[in-house]
Amino acid sequence: MARLKVGVLISGRGSNLEALIAACAAPGFPAEIALVLSNRADAAGLAHAARAGIASRVIPHRDFSSRNAFDDALDGALAAAGIELVCLAGFMRLLGAAFVARWRDRLVNIHPSLLPEFPGLDTHARALAAGMRFSGCTVHFVRPEMDSGPIIVQAAVPVLPGDDAECLAARVLEAEHRAYPLALRLIAEGRVRVEGECVTIAGSPV
Ligand code: GAR
Repeated sequence: MARLKVGVLISGRGSNLEALIAACAAPGFPAEIALVLSNRADAAGLAHAARAGIASRVIPHRDFSSRNAFDDALDGALAAAGIELVCLAGFMRLLGAAFVARWRDRLVNIHPSLLPEFPGLDTHARALAAGMRFSGCTVHFVRPEMDSGPIIVQAAVPVLPGDDAECLAARVLEAEHRAYPLALRLIAEGRVRVEGECVTIAGSPV
C-alpha cells in the first residue's frame, strides 16, 4: 500500500523531526517524509533531513512582504512535492487562516503541554507556576488560533518536586518523541476522524 507523503515544517533543533524520521524508517510504517521545510537557514534540524536523504528547502519568512505571501510559498513547495499531510515540528510561525483552511484536517502540530492548558510560549514555566502535578504534550489538528484544534494524541508526565522548566521540558520532550510518531501512524493508517471538532480513532483506544 502507498505510504502517506508527509511534509515537516521546522524552525530549529528538529528533535521531533528526528523522531518522525526514525519512525518512518521502520519496516511497514505507513508514512514517509518527502519534504522538510524550514523558515530559518540556521535550523539545526535541517541536518537530520540531510542525513536521512530527505529533500529540504529553506523558505525564510523575512523574504516575504506578508504572511499570506510566505504561506503561499510554503503551500507551493508542499504541493509541488505531492505532500498529503503537513506536520509542524517546532515551527515557530503562526500560519494564516487561508493556509490553515486549505490544509484543514491535513495539518498537525505538536505542543509541549496538555492543551487547552498553556498554549503559546514559556509552557513549562507556566505549568510550574500554576502548581500542576502533571504536564505533557498534545498532537492536534491545526485551527487558526495558536496551539488549538482537535486533539489526536496526548501523553502525560508527572511534575516532580524540584523540577525547573528545563528538566520538565526534557521529560515532556521524551513523551513528544513517542506521541508524534504514534499520531502519525494513526493518521496514516486512516483511523483518525474529526467529528464535531473531536477526534475519534477507529480500532483500539489510544
Ligand atoms: C517542541 O517541544 C515542540 O513541542 C515545541 O517546540 C519544540 C521543538 O523542538 N512546539 C511548540 O511550542 C509549538 N507551539 P524540536 O525542534 O526539537 O522538535
